[in-house]
Amino acid sequence: MCGIVGFSSKDTSAVGPLLNGLHRLEYRGYDSAGVALEGAEGIKIYKQTGKVAKLDALLKKALPGDEAQKFTIGIAHTRWATHGLPTVANAHPHVSGDGSLALVHNGIIENHAALRAGLEKRGAKFLSQTDTEVLAHLVGAFDKGDLFSATCEALRRVEGTYGVALISEKHPGEMIVARKGSPLVIGVGENETVVASDVSAIVAYTRQVIYLKDGDVARITPDGIEIRSLDFASVSREVQEVDWDIGSIEKGGYEHFMLKEIFEQPDALQNTIRGRLDSRDGTAILSGLNLTPRELAAVRRIVVIGCGTSLHAGMVGKYLFENLADIPASPEQAAEFRYSNPIVGPDDLVIALSQSGETADTLAAVRESIRKGALVASLCNVVGSTIARETGRGVYLHAGPEISVASTKAFTAQVMALCMIALKLGRTRRLSREDGIQLAAEIERIPELIKAVLAQSKTIEQIAEKYAKANDMFFIGRGILYPTALEGALKIKEIAYVHAEGYQAAELKHGPIALLREETPVVALLADVPGKEKTLGNVQECRARRAPVIGIVTEGDAAAAAAVDDTIFIPRTLPSLSPIVTVVALQLFAYHVARLRGCEIDQPRNLAKSVTVE
Ligand code: G6P
Repeated sequence: MCGIVGFSSKDTSAVGPLLNGLHRLEYRGYDSAGVALEGAEGIKIYKQTGKVAKLDALLKKALPGDEAQKFTIGIAHTRWATHGLPTVANAHPHVSGDGSLALVHNGIIENHAALRAGLEKRGAKFLSQTDTEVLAHLVGAFDKGDLFSATCEALRRVEGTYGVALISEKHPGEMIVARKGSPLVIGVGENETVVASDVSAIVAYTRQVIYLKDGDVARITPDGIEIRSLDFASVSREVQEVDWDIGSIEKGGYEHFMLKEIFEQPDALQNTIRGRLDSRDGTAILSGLNLTPRELAAVRRIVVIGCGTSLHAGMVGKYLFENLADIPASPEQAAEFRYSNPIVGPDDLVIALSQSGETADTLAAVRESIRKGALVASLCNVVGSTIARETGRGVYLHAGPEISVASTKAFTAQVMALCMIALKLGRTRRLSREDGIQLAAEIERIPELIKAVLAQSKTIEQIAEKYAKANDMFFIGRGILYPTALEGALKIKEIAYVHAEGYQAAELKHGPIALLREETPVVALLADVPGKEKTLGNVQECRARRAPVIGIVTEGDAAAAAAVDDTIFIPRTLPSLSPIVTVVALQLFAYHVARLRGCEIDQPRNLAKSVTVE
């Protein structure tokens, strides 16, 4: 949520790298964008509402020819609005009282009103409605000749979260960056230092990175990097190597990142599974969980927490843990859980699900669970992310970078990881070796089964054409497929702007059926899971109200295919894995509907991929 880039070099222009970085981080927000550039004549600021492409165009005009070469240090920002409308005045960078210091910020300064009032008393005049501008003024006010210590001084007074980067005309050649609660990574290149909210904006320059920790403040000059704590004590952080390259974050010939990521799922899941199955004993090897058989056997309850798509994966987890491991499990929306004074303790295993590992609500729920003494593990995709670090145990998804705002491969990888945890827990309890072996073998087949669904993209597109104009849709599923119905509805809401609702198949008749008409398609999840026959009954109820039904049906299930208007066939698999195979068809359906409706698929309106505010 909000992307930050910083660039510092002795002789390379900062303009290109800053804009490239912003394009990479646009998934974090795209309400407005801006840069502050430092050259021999001081700092210049350019801001623009809307997407980074508009800022690109503005800079091309403003800095023609070799003009851009004059600026070798700079900071940049792409915004997801929290405080104040997406206007140029509210766009970052913001400046200090005398305009000499420019600052970009990701996060929320909770005590901004009190800080603003204090500064106003001393004559400060603010140009925007943002909390960030207050921070720019505050650092400026503390600057008595040392920008590094002035920043620490100001940040010690801030309550809330921040990733910040700032430069000042009074301190040419210096850039200060800091983090608390919002991610910030420093890329250590040969001839340049690149700072960004995540490594995707850095790997084009270097794979050597330093992940700043909460409370770290760094001073970057073309000669080096110095890191301190907020109370100005020296801190040392190791340089780590990123294990993927620029190719993984390019579209690779696909029209959209979302389509690429849908099609990457066979490989992504192969990576999630690799080396983690023991097909001889029918169990999973998940060393990152770091739990002994005794500790696993002592788990009395599992709470799965997450937001958005990750929450839906967590809801699938409930069925997996209860069916495979006989452990009661409850999925909880992270913010609701956190503020419910949750009853968790040492007998409970709390599993936090987060693609980014940075979602503020999920992180807060993790901290609350740790405080209460629960065992807390995480399933994150981004290595080294805050949630992964703070839980200290878990299963990395290894699905590769996910760029499209709408999550796809992270969902299937999360369900897969949950399935492997359930298998492992099940084998400490009543799940037999034979059943464990059968499940492990089926897990190995999943990448191939997904390929079979992907091969039907054209058919799914044709079905999407029939329904692309619908304004409302329902998705129905039963048991383990109910969360998949929610996920199918979420996908089409997010990227196609179609009002859609996911329902338990049995619940439709208790109210929502009143909305069904000829113009209201119903997508029925009819894979072979317990209760499918009952769902077929619900399909009849829909069709009796003239609602057309699209069925996601197991290959060879002629009865189910005959019961619906349009059929998308998926290969047969075990019920535990049916959400994975089913959801791929729903992802493609949402993608094609969105494309036919002319939507901006990778960057849907009002959304951001990584939500670091509560
Ligand atoms: C945002 C994104 C969703 C995502 C959710 C949780 O709302 O738009 O796609 O599912 O955050 O993100 P996480 O990184 O925690 O999985």
